[in-house]
Amino acid sequence: MPEQPVDESVVTITPLDRGPNLVKGTIRVVTPSGRVLVTDVMTKLCRCGHSEDKPFCDGSHKRVGFSSVENGPDFHKGE
Ligand code: FES
Repeated sequence: MPEQPVDESVVTITPLDRGPNLVKGTIRVVTPSGRVLVTDVMTKLCRCGHSEDKPFCDGSHKRVGFSSVENGPDFHKGE
């Protein structure tokens, strides 16, 4: 599938195979109390549940052998 042009006003979340959610676009991650953790144009958010730096990915998905398969039974297309 060809890559689509990037619309900087749209935040795009891409679940990486066997890895985190790659978030592209201007985003702000805040705590429940509203403290800003990061403002950036790209970050990786943990989806394996094993990061010591949640909500961010710290690479622990590799250590625990996190598995995900795009288009597999656990992949939700949102269509
Ligand atoms: S997805 Fe990377 S540490 Fe969880």
